[in-house]
Amino acid sequence: TGLQASGKAGIVTGRRNISHTQARLAKILLSDATDKICAEQFKARGHDVDSKPGLSKEELKQIIGQYDGLVVRSATKVTKDILAAATNLKVVGRAGTGVDNIDTPAATMQGVLVVNTPGGNTISTAELTFTHMLALSRNIPQAVASLKAGKWERSKYTGTELTGKTLAVIGLGRIGREVARWGRAFGMTTIGFDPIVSAAAARSAGIEPVPLDELWAKADFITLHTPLTKDTRYLINADTLKKCKKGVRIINCARGGIIDEKALLEALESGHVGGASLDVYETEPPGEAERPLINHPRIVSTPHLGANTKDAQVRVAKDIAIQLSDILEQKDFVGV
Ligand code: NAD
Ligand code: MLT
Repeated sequence: TGLQASGKAGIVTGRRNISHTQARLAKILLSDATDKICAEQFKARGHDVDSKPGLSKEELKQIIGQYDGLVVRSATKVTKDILAAATNLKVVGRAGTGVDNIDTPAATMQGVLVVNTPGGNTISTAELTFTHMLALSRNIPQAVASLKAGKWERSKYTGTELTGKTLAVIGLGRIGREVARWGRAFGMTTIGFDPIVSAAAARSAGIEPVPLDELWAKADFITLHTPLTKDTRYLINADTLKKCKKGVRIINCARGGIIDEKALLEALESGHVGGASLDVYETEPPGEAERPLINHPRIVSTPHLGANTKDAQVRVAKDIAIQLSDILEQKDFVGV
């Protein structure tokens, strides 16, 4: 995981394989859609930039050998075989937080650095999470769709207040703490779990730390802010859902796969779960198999919009270009 020297940029893994005799203008590929400021920053530093979003895996494999640097968001999968074809690659930059689309051990073995911009989309994602929580508690998307369909259904969309409820935050990093702060501003009791964050640090962020086993039964709302790892895969599953209060509402603006979607659908259908709000899915974009969950009347769903604000996209696009340029020009860079 990231060694973050500042909230602005972070090195995730890898080592420098750029020798001091190698400094030269670099060739960069932007293989996902990034704000135009990214290419502008590289060009301003004299580097060559190709922007080619939407390449197939085969197309990427064919051209990646030409490039010194690669910038991705989440669509490009930087797999072992892509890396094997990347004979000139020195650094992969993730314009965003999660690096689960990059095979970081394979990159490290090849001496390719992997860097991200962990702080750049914290606020955007925390704001989307809170928007989801409010939309979920007041059935906003369903009520809007009903009114637009010509109906006037008031009692059907009776909601619940946030004030006085318990918000359980799983993952007390940048986004989790921000969401908790706003939860408290809404008069919620905030509890949380994070195996790395000390009890003292959680309390100083206003979050009462609780063991995971005790968290389920206390929460009215559960919000997920962890990476997807072997420990968090299916953290929300049939067993943990059973331990939750009837009517619990769950929000996932972190990563698909932290929730077992099949178990969630069953718990929604049985009425045990009151509602869920999802920005991320096990398969993105979701296929036909995921339709019953996404179309469920008590699901609020958005298409992975957490980081999709102009503000965050400009920030991460600019930060990643500066970071890669510094690395390729052998300047000091944050996060080492
Ligand atoms: P962060 O690294 O600051 O915080 C993550 C926290 O999760 C850490 O404190 C870590 O200790 C904790 N954690 C790890 N394993 C855990 C476990 N088993 N149980 C509980 N906590 C655990 O990361 P962040 O910037 O807050 O981002 C959180 C998540 O949100 C990441 O998965 C990131 O990829 C995702 N994200 C999604 C979007 C989006 O578009 N929806 C945007 C940005 C980030
Ligand atoms: C992230 O981890 O930064 C998000 O998933 C947002 C993105 O896809 O860029």
